[in-house]
Amino acid sequence: MTRPTEITIDLNALIANCHYAQSLSPDSQTVAVVKADAYGHGAAEIAKALEQTVSMFAVSSLEEGIELRQQGITAPILLLEGCFSLEELFIACQYGFSVVMHNLYQCQMLENLDAKQQIAIWLKVDTGMHRLGFLPEQVMDIYARLKGVKQVKNVVLMTHLSSADETNNHFTNQQIEKFANCHKQLESHFSIQIETSIANSAGLKAWPIARGTWNRPGIMLYGVSPFMPTNKLSVDNLPEHSMQQQLLPVMAFMSKVIALRNVPKGETVGYGNTWVASKDSVVATIAAGYGDGYPRTAKLGTPVLVNRQHAKLCGRVSMDMITVDVTGLTGIEIDSEVELWGKNLLVNEVASWADTIGYELVTRMPKRTRRRTINS
Ligand SMILES: Cc1ncc(COP(=O)(O)O)c(C=O)c1O
Repeated sequence: MTRPTEITIDLNALIANCHYAQSLSPDSQTVAVVKADAYGHGAAEIAKALEQTVSMFAVSSLEEGIELRQQGITAPILLLEGCFSLEELFIACQYGFSVVMHNLYQCQMLENLDAKQQIAIWLKVDTGMHRLGFLPEQVMDIYARLKGVKQVKNVVLMTHLSSADETNNHFTNQQIEKFANCHKQLESHFSIQIETSIANSAGLKAWPIARGTWNRPGIMLYGVSPFMPTNKLSVDNLPEHSMQQQLLPVMAFMSKVIALRNVPKGETVGYGNTWVASKDSVVATIAAGYGDGYPRTAKLGTPVLVNRQHAKLCGRVSMDMITVDVTGLTGIEIDSEVELWGKNLLVNEVASWADTIGYELVTRMPKRTRRRTINS
């Protein structure tokens, strides 16, 4: 028997989630965000599975884009942070990548570019996130400069929302309004139609006015809602609007029980003796720890499914193992199946017990955790 710890990636769930994303905005095109190894799901495999369904992929860097091309992905690819040097921009042109342009340095780079191929530019407007992008009052000037560069194939106007997961946060309205004004001014000044892109997953679901020519869903494709259950303002707390109910988790993090013991009342379990048995208890040891991607910050009581029954984390998470209180559960034995997160236990729920978000847990799965793809 090999160590029974693995993640499974369900490509059918991925496609279903993508169709759901598209159903929210049927007139838009989809840029599937597959940066950071498709949020830990395996970028090449995810992109191959989605290639017939979406129009474009988005990654963070030139390296991530090249990796997809080397794996045979021919669809358009957008570099979300643009290029970091003239050499990179030249290579991006050769690979046919589209690039975000978010600062003057990148604009100057483009003006100095000597390449045969044309390149699509996604001009980023900083409408309030204050991370990347030109201020709305700079955009007219930058757009005029882009029009003067012969290598520019077309320009899409984009922005990014900072709080789209808070469904009644007025800041999102302000961002969208700033963006709409900027877009309107450009279109009327240059007498052309300009494509737009605003929405991430939360924007796509909760802010219909954020839907543009292109939407950029990421986390929802992987079956994880951007709305945390602990966020009182989230749509997932309104059952009739819940996004999570429409999504199928793509990643399942599975393991098995590798030891079982009786722990008498008053005895402790694990490093630091943080868990004390309040009664005579049965504790299962499971082959998954922070070295496998389980969060060390998970608190005592974090839910774990053992043999499909709810159990609670007891004791600190160690590198290779966790311990779980299975007192009173039925049929638990060595080799019993354990779901750490997946279809029956949402990663966002585990994340909320570990003071983080599902995004982080799925994205940082380490190399050593074995992967298996389900494609039935
Ligand atoms: C610019 C941009 N667009 C879209 C996304 C996708 O966001 P989400 O995963 O919340 O859908 C991201 C992710 O961080 C992003 O940085």
